[in-house]
Amino acid sequence: MAIPQFDTRTPLAPLRPAIMERIEAVVAGGHFVLGPEVKAFEREFAEYLGVRHVIGVGNGTDAITIALRALGVTPGDDVVVPSFTFYATAEAVAEAGARPIFCDVDADTRNVTVETVRAALTPRTTAIVAVDLFGLPAPVPDLAQLGLPVVEDAAQAAGARLGSRMAGSLGHAATFSFYPSKNLGAFGDGGVVATDDDAVAELARALRFHGSRDKQTFDHVGYNSRLDELQAAILRVLLPELDGWCDGRRAAGLAYVEAGLGEHVALPAVPDGAQPAWHLYVVCHPRADELLAVLAAAGVEARGYYRRPLHRQPAMAPFVRGQLSLPVTDMLAAQNIALPISPVLRAEQAREVVQAIAGAL
Ligand SMILES: Cc1ncc(COP(=O)(O)O)c(C=O)c1O
Repeated sequence: MAIPQFDTRTPLAPLRPAIMERIEAVVAGGHFVLGPEVKAFEREFAEYLGVRHVIGVGNGTDAITIALRALGVTPGDDVVVPSFTFYATAEAVAEAGARPIFCDVDADTRNVTVETVRAALTPRTTAIVAVDLFGLPAPVPDLAQLGLPVVEDAAQAAGARLGSRMAGSLGHAATFSFYPSKNLGAFGDGGVVATDDDAVAELARALRFHGSRDKQTFDHVGYNSRLDELQAAILRVLLPELDGWCDGRRAAGLAYVEAGLGEHVALPAVPDGAQPAWHLYVVCHPRADELLAVLAAAGVEARGYYRRPLHRQPAMAPFVRGQLSLPVTDMLAAQNIALPISPVLRAEQAREVVQAIAGAL
């Protein structure tokens, strides 16, 4: 039996009647942009995260740009970002007019550390973007010692925790994406900025609507970037399921470990106190591409992520000065394999994947 990399259909199936009912209600209400559903979702997600403010925006990329600008990043600033992440993390920095400065990550957690960020700091650095990569919270509280505002890019980490705090509540501001394949996925694009800071929230709220607070006076050149009512209504049905889905994702990760996956490939390290939400379950092996071919032949859908890290992307070339050496990033980019993961991946499927890997090696 083929094993897909993601299964978004099965968890959604029992929710379909409730979702259709909410969609009907929005259509009947005739209010489609910045109405009661967005307001209610912002309140409910803020409560879930344990933060004062959530601002719905068009997608997770805009969320980062808006968060950076709301924190005071201006053109000419430098912003430290990991090179081993989805392209949007750095693209959003450039969209804010700043220069992405690429840093390395830890080989075991695949996340930035105080040391890797410190090594990238420049006199012009005014902010840091820390990514909760693959659903494992980055050590954002530790980064506070560097004395710069941190945007936590939690696009992949909805439902993850660090100690008693939720991913998305760890920095000065955080951002989420509700792209359909995410842990909390809408039926189209969507995102939010989350923050405890009243002034940052107010500016982010203005920036998502053309830089205006009242639709009459335009104080900033902003964006037309709103979470829409239909997506918010759907997300309100899904949010109560998120913790259960993350339990399922962690159970799937555990099933891989119990099936002996760690005897064959390098597993993700989970620091004490972190509760990952495994958006992706990513292992490493020096013969990654060979393994991917064997898995594909066995009907297991897996893939390598970020094979060309951001400091090597053509569009980022103008921002990279001199010879930039990020050896862990290059290793992870070449050796990672994202295995099938979902809230409903069964233990026998995990065993099948491990058997296919063991057979190949
Ligand atoms: C780490 C990370 N940051 C940012 C984004 C951008 O989100 P979006 O696609 O909603 O713009 C994504 C996902 O797509 C992501 O994985």
